[in-house]
Amino acid sequence: MDPAAPILLFDSGVGGLTVLAALRRVLPEAPVIYAADTAGLPYGSKSEAEIAARVAGLLGRMTERWHPRLVCIACNTASTIALGIVREVLEVPVVGTVPAIKPAAALTRSGVIGLLGTAATIRQGYVDRLEAEFAAGKRLIRHPAPGLVAAAEAKLRDELVEQALIDEAVAGLRVQAQGGQIDAVVLACTHFPLLSEELQRALGPDVRLVDGAEGIARRIAHLTDGQTFARTMPDRAVFTADPAANPMRAEMLAAYGLTQIERF
Ligand code: DGL
Repeated sequence: MDPAAPILLFDSGVGGLTVLAALRRVLPEAPVIYAADTAGLPYGSKSEAEIAARVAGLLGRMTERWHPRLVCIACNTASTIALGIVREVLEVPVVGTVPAIKPAAALTRSGVIGLLGTAATIRQGYVDRLEAEFAAGKRLIRHPAPGLVAAAEAKLRDELVEQALIDEAVAGLRVQAQGGQIDAVVLACTHFPLLSEELQRALGPDVRLVDGAEGIARRIAHLTDGQTFARTMPDRAVFTADPAANPMRAEMLAAYGLTQIERF
């Protein structure tokens, strides 16, 4: 294994940065390429066929170009739809990001769990299977919150996030049967932890927010255990849309250790 071989993190936009932050804490020395399919954002309103073709195609080409040691799909929408096909296509280990229903089920006391995700994620059979496996006997209340993806993107551009938008997403959970008893909410989109302050404000202090970032970082550390890392070039942020027109600020990306910006 080439010590300079990067870990490739992939998302549609800034969401995967929440996974990158967790990865930095466990593997600070690992070289990283952060790839955002900004030309395809948002994924949540696309069809399964479109997402699967896009993600598998892009990751195939990116892997050929950069020879990563591991690929992490840091996106719930892409993972719940395309993890299987991507694993078939790529020869490197692929770690997905799927809704953290298991840890939420372990910590709920009321037995009522909320789940916020994109419209595409919440309708996936993958989520039904996680619910059946880990939340049997509990109630899982799902609500699509596509507006939060744009809000998270805006927040990282230092734009104002309207609390009303977050309150609306939370109300979508609360109005459903037993919604008032929710004491844990799965953030089933990697963009949403970027809004945890606003979400906590809307849900109140007694509701726990649960996301998968720490677990994914640990899984990557486990899969790369014993490998050596050497950063021979700056970690990069790579965008499928023109980075000149890309609204992600260089200072924000640098705060995540991504000091070079490129177009794919
Ligand atoms: N960050 C992505 C996820 O985890 C999706 C955002 C989008 O709609 O593109 O689902």
